[in-house]
Amino acid sequence: MQRREFVASSLAVATAAVALPKAAQAAQGSGSMTNVVFTENDPGHWKDVEKLHVPLVKVEGRKMTVTTPHPMSEAHYIVSHTVVLEGGKFLDRKTFNWKDQPVSEHRLPEGYKGKVMVTSTCNLHDWWLKTLDA
Ligand SMILES: [Fe+2]
Repeated sequence: MQRREFVASSLAVATAAVALPKAAQAAQGSGSMTNVVFTENDPGHWKDVEKLHVPLVKVEGRKMTVTTPHPMSEAHYIVSHTVVLEGGKFLDRKTFNWKDQPVSEHRLPEGYKGKVMVTSTCNLHDWWLKTLDA
């Protein structure tokens, strides 16, 4: 591979990685990320299991509690919750093992107003996104 081709392909990969949060936001209604990012409105090929995977989010002031109503077993469990604020600003992440309950608590920045993107990842059923306004 020529140096110029290598640089061009590296830039394409980097651009795609940066573009993912915007694409994930777009997936909330457009269906453009069908079977990549799963949502309540776009469960893709995981239709019929969305109720077990879409994270439930409760906001009380700055405190945010995330729950995934999913059974936990060694073979099948929720791996993590991640919270990202508007503009792709990472806030927090909590990982689980199969013996944990898939519940996490996060603290929003003082006075934060804007979108909050919460993900729940299942080891068998991929990456689920819930977007809300805080
Ligand atoms: Fe699952």
